Amino acid sequence: MSRSIFRRKSVTKILADVASGFSDSEHPGTASRLEKALNVKDLTLMGIAAVVGAGIFSTIGEASFQGGPGVSILFVITAITCGFSALCYAEFASRIPVAGSAYTYAYASFGELIAWIIGWDLLMEYAIGNIAVAISWSEYFVNLLEGFNIHMPTFLTMDYFSAFTAHEKIQELTASGNLAEITDRMRIAASAWATAPGSGNIKFIANIPALAIVFVITYLVYIGIRETKKATNAMVYLKIAIVIAVIVIGFFYVTPANWHPFLPNGFSGVMKGVSGVFFAYIGFDAISTTAEECKNPQKDLPRGMIYSLIICTVLYILIALVLTGMVNYKDLRVGDPLAYVFAKVGLKNISYVISISAVVATASVLLIFQLGQPRIWMSMSRDGLLPKAFSRIHPRFHTPSFATIVTGFVVAVPALFLNLTEVTNLTSIGTLFAFVLVCGGVLLLPREAAVKGKFHLPYINSQWIVPVLFVVGAYFFRNNIMNLFSGTDLHHKFPYFLFILLSATLAVLAFVKKLSLIPVLGLVSCFYLMAELEYESWIRFLAWLIIGLVIYFSYGYKHSKLGKPENAHLER
Ligand code: ALA
Repeated sequence: MSRSIFRRKSVTKILADVASGFSDSEHPGTASRLEKALNVKDLTLMGIAAVVGAGIFSTIGEASFQGGPGVSILFVITAITCGFSALCYAEFASRIPVAGSAYTYAYASFGELIAWIIGWDLLMEYAIGNIAVAISWSEYFVNLLEGFNIHMPTFLTMDYFSAFTAHEKIQELTASGNLAEITDRMRIAASAWATAPGSGNIKFIANIPALAIVFVITYLVYIGIRETKKATNAMVYLKIAIVIAVIVIGFFYVTPANWHPFLPNGFSGVMKGVSGVFFAYIGFDAISTTAEECKNPQKDLPRGMIYSLIICTVLYILIALVLTGMVNYKDLRVGDPLAYVFAKVGLKNISYVISISAVVATASVLLIFQLGQPRIWMSMSRDGLLPKAFSRIHPRFHTPSFATIVTGFVVAVPALFLNLTEVTNLTSIGTLFAFVLVCGGVLLLPREAAVKGKFHLPYINSQWIVPVLFVVGAYFFRNNIMNLFSGTDLHHKFPYFLFILLSATLAVLAFVKKLSLIPVLGLVSCFYLMAELEYESWIRFLAWLIIGLVIYFSYGYKHSKLGKPENAHLER
């Protein structure tokens, strides 16, 4: 038995556990296996279901405002970064086709502590990400109700912080005479503040639709994977059709003059949109949590991830071009940019259809993430890092019942009170970190000979390529690098210093150890996007990790199955 926090679980044992079923002795009377119902088409659709949502319907607006038409470059950069990560996920999914996704992969490659950290971190992607999606869903849903002349009190449709900030901002702009800067969005949020029950600064303001949709979706996920699959497939067809229609119709309303200048705020303006654009891509990896529900996971999961990423990338780049071509980028700072641009060019009906499809699209993202989170907890619980209840499987519905209900509450309650931008930033940094660890984990896997019918990450020797790229990059960006050492707020540049250090280390390791190129590029590109995120997000992210470590050392470390003498054979 090892008491080491880096004890690793062997891949053979992970697979043997899944094959034999887990909980027979631990949860008598409960089913121990999930139902195998998914094929490559279902997985691709689920991937698209998880990807196309709040990002393309909401957060792209702010990113386009910051970066101008050049935001489409960011969609390409992000797609390439996600592509490297998708290939690494695919390699893991084909070697370790079990439900825990990056958590299980990390357990096999880095050991228990990092596995815990990533399991904890994935909460940011799935649960926190879903809070963002629920908030965005609520925004489109309330718009839609307005279209039907149903008006909810505004204080029941948003978070306290947004209402308070808008109220303050309007007072400030009014006092300074800048009335033209007051937007409709601000007015609505301020009206929530003005009408909310309560007194002084203590007011009841909560996002009720966000809470409601999370409960509905949680119920759907609770009652079974087949039901989830059917609902997902229907929603995905609808949203792809709408997105294609937006591209085709929007194309006729493009005024090429809007594409000039292409980079109105330079490359740094484009990079301000990293969080929103990356958020739009999150989700292709979520299908790896359904590994135990796939008919042929080793072949279908990698294909499902890669196909969904390719389809979404093409759609996104076209949408970004159409969006920034239809109106001036300065108009795009709205929560419903796709609906907005069509209304702006006079196509009110289309704008209305877009709102309906946004409601459907974001609901399907919610569904997949709400499906993923409990399966990660289930895997962590099977390993003893979380209480046993989290791996309980419903005898009739064959879903992780307790974990699903907990996920419902963990997402629904904060969705009542949190603000979209903050949650999006946290989700993006958390997910990028998960990608970093997955790419790094692949580098630690022993090389395997290709097996027919199984996905295999091609090995390309990085020995010369990475060091050369490093030197060329350092030369071209020498001014930016020098600027890092000047000016004030040096601590805000800490993520960039880390990025440079990591890249230099990888360049040396690539040279010495002839590392595989794809995971190295994945690692560097994900870390670069992380470095572009705000310093505040880093601080919150680090605080989150510290809370996770406290929980691990007070519970997981002591209850871990690998720490028990009778399970010494599980280690390697
Ligand atoms: N990619 C997902 C969305 O945009 C999270 O909603």
